Amino acid sequence: MRDALIARIEAGGPMPFEEFMGAALYGPAGGFFAGPVLRSEKEGDFLTSPEVSPLFGETLAGFVRSEADRIGETEPAVVEAGAGSGSLLRPLLDALGRVGGVWAVERSPAARAALAGRVPEAAGVEDLGRVPGGLRGVILANELLDNLPAALAVRIPQGWEEQWVGVADGALVPVGVPARPEVAAWADAHAGEVPVGSLVEVQIEAGEWVAAAVGLLERGALVVIDYGDIAEGLLPRRAGGTLRTYRAHHLGPDPLLEPGATDITMDVDFAALMAAAGAAGAEVSLHRQDDFLIGLGLEDRLAALRRRELELAATGDAMERLRIRSALADGRTLLHPRGLGDFRVMIARV
Ligand SMILES: C[S@@+](CC[C@H](N)C(=O)[O-])C[C@H]1O[C@@H](n2cnc3c(N)ncnc32)[C@H](O)[C@@H]1O
Repeated sequence: MRDALIARIEAGGPMPFEEFMGAALYGPAGGFFAGPVLRSEKEGDFLTSPEVSPLFGETLAGFVRSEADRIGETEPAVVEAGAGSGSLLRPLLDALGRVGGVWAVERSPAARAALAGRVPEAAGVEDLGRVPGGLRGVILANELLDNLPAALAVRIPQGWEEQWVGVADGALVPVGVPARPEVAAWADAHAGEVPVGSLVEVQIEAGEWVAAAVGLLERGALVVIDYGDIAEGLLPRRAGGTLRTYRAHHLGPDPLLEPGATDITMDVDFAALMAAAGAAGAEVSLHRQDDFLIGLGLEDRLAALRRRELELAATGDAMERLRIRSALADGRTLLHPRGLGDFRVMIARV
């Protein structure tokens, strides 16, 4: 992948960062998500809420139910985009019962194969554009938008410069170029008052994705869950940018060093996403994951598990007690105030 990118840049000149990120993550020849390895599972490279606990999907079934009531739909459609291994959809569908159609949108062939086995009732598609419009139901995306290719803008005294990817001495290196108008406009609108030298991830594709998702809904909600914040929350993190890599559950090297071998991700700019959803006609709200899940009854569910654990302590089924204890610990992880509980949940309703 690295050699192929170097050859491409030597032939055609430096490339915008979003083009580099798209190739490194999804390029058919060696992209991080393009190979046979399923990335989002315990043995993989990162651990997400649905991989931590099935209580995540089970609890979100309550959200789908309440949306179905709001729009007067007894059989809501369910779409999950970036559906990974199916660890969210499976418990959600089991808890939900009747649905009016299920779609699992996945770009990664390995994830699509896993989904076909684990959620066979879902129509597997590669791209959101293949989901039919006029949906009455809920579209979910957990830790998808942090993975969508973004441009990189650096604050300079006169405005913005972009960081593209070039080649020097046989290595991929950042190259400063004048910012394209759409990149400068996005940074002006969403970056806030950042000091000169700050690096801002320009998430134009994420905003377009949100607008397209809202556009598929006749009535219902888009739910985007991810790490990130609104601009004020992101400001202190913007000196060096929030772009980072992961590999085998640990922070990895600079994104330019081993393209294809690491996940590339960034904090999601939720203010920009809210603006995109609002412009697409949705009514938008933003929540913390812990508040959102507690509002849907997760604490009550955990309390019931705790009571069950205590009962088992009395009757002496040690194995079952251990299983419940572990499920309880995993469930609590979803609410950790400095961990998954600190994720943001954007709800865009139409
Ligand atoms: C970080 S993983 C999260 C997987 C799952 N949602 C979870 O929480 O475990 C992101 C997933 O989004 C997929 N993906 C990235 N871009 C996509 C797109 N435009 N459409 C659909 N899936 C996409 C990747 O292949 C990857 O499986």
